[in-house]
Amino acid sequence: MARIRLDGVSKRFGTTPVVQDVNLDIADGEFLVLLGPSGCGKSTLLRMIAGLESLSAGRILLDDLDVTATPPRQRDVAMVFQSYALYPHLTVAKNIGFPLRARGRSREQIRNKVTAVAAALGLVEHLDRRPAALSGGQRQRVALARAIVREPGAFLMDEPLSNLDAALRSATRTELTDLHRRLGATFLYVTHDQVEAMTMASRIALLNRGRIEQVGTPSELYDAPRSTFVAAFLGSPPMNLFDATIVDRAGELHVVSDGLDAPLGLPANAASGPREVTVGIRPERLHLDSPGARLRGVVTAIENLGGEEIMHIGAGATNFSMRAPRPVPVRTGDTVGLHVESRDIHLFESGTGRRLLWRPPHEHGASAPGASSLSVA
Ligand SMILES: Nc1ncnc2c1ncn2[C@@H]1O[C@H](COP(=O)(O)OP(=O)(O)O)[C@@H](O)[C@H]1O
Ligand SMILES: [Mg+2]
Repeated sequence: MARIRLDGVSKRFGTTPVVQDVNLDIADGEFLVLLGPSGCGKSTLLRMIAGLESLSAGRILLDDLDVTATPPRQRDVAMVFQSYALYPHLTVAKNIGFPLRARGRSREQIRNKVTAVAAALGLVEHLDRRPAALSGGQRQRVALARAIVREPGAFLMDEPLSNLDAALRSATRTELTDLHRRLGATFLYVTHDQVEAMTMASRIALLNRGRIEQVGTPSELYDAPRSTFVAAFLGSPPMNLFDATIVDRAGELHVVSDGLDAPLGLPANAASGPREVTVGIRPERLHLDSPGARLRGVVTAIENLGGEEIMHIGAGATNFSMRAPRPVPVRTGDTVGLHVESRDIHLFESGTGRRLLWRPPHEHGASAPGASSLSVA
């Protein structure tokens, strides 16, 4: 079992900072997903925890032990790579048993353990084959099995599903969640795929250019993104973001931009004067409703996803999208009026992109000071 703590962890390659002052406390038994775009430093951070990369600054603790300078083999973690890294000349059984042989376990111990883990992962009938004779999904399971036989306190996984096709990826997500529950071990899982993160994580740490942008449950990140970066990273299509101004309309605050004029449900004294903001609205929170329209625009394209449709809409210089059950009663070229509830409007500070707290009943701002006026999260 392992709790993993990162304390001010930083990494530079030459003068280029790649991981910057990362602080993270991963509880024993947690499934934490490190999510972020390609090149943001995920693999580097994982490799530092595994001991495959040195730190430029900071400390790594496993349980209460400082392992910053401990060699990889002596850390109670097992790494699973995207490339599987199997030995091509060894059978599946020998690949799985490799870590046990390296530790000098008896033949019988190795055989028993390998058989048990192979059974758990559905690999028994492949034990005598070589990796080249297996499918991508089977190879991935061999790599997992090889990590499991070590019985590590924590599994470190670097994009383990990215070489699988879509159907297999989806099935393997469910298997991994199940495996995590059965093993009870800590999983630290790296991916750039928001669906993997949303479906498997107990918590997500979203990285942006080597820094943690937000840590929280999938729902917390989706429902109350701390920044426009988080808002735009999660969701498909992502949250609509537009520049807007907060305007006093007869004592009530509205957000106003090309095609948009929506009340915030706040009295004018909640903000001091007009201010520039970025408005965020999720595509599924927009509804067709001409009389009650707070947003107007022209449909520029409609995508059919089978169960749902995504409409792309232009309003002046702004483009946004909405998603709704199919069929939507509009066609390309139509002018549409859309409704959005005040509580579904997210506000971010212009420039910094940081979330503005403003609505106590709906949001997590209930406990935050100053939540009924506009303040920075
Ligand atoms: N050994 C290295 N030397 C120099 N730059 C590196 C090295 N490893 C990674 N980088 C750079 O560090 C950045 C982060 O890489 P990486 O951790 O692999 O990102 P991710 O896994 O999020 O895609 C990238 O810009 C990459 O080019
Ligand atoms: Mg990577």
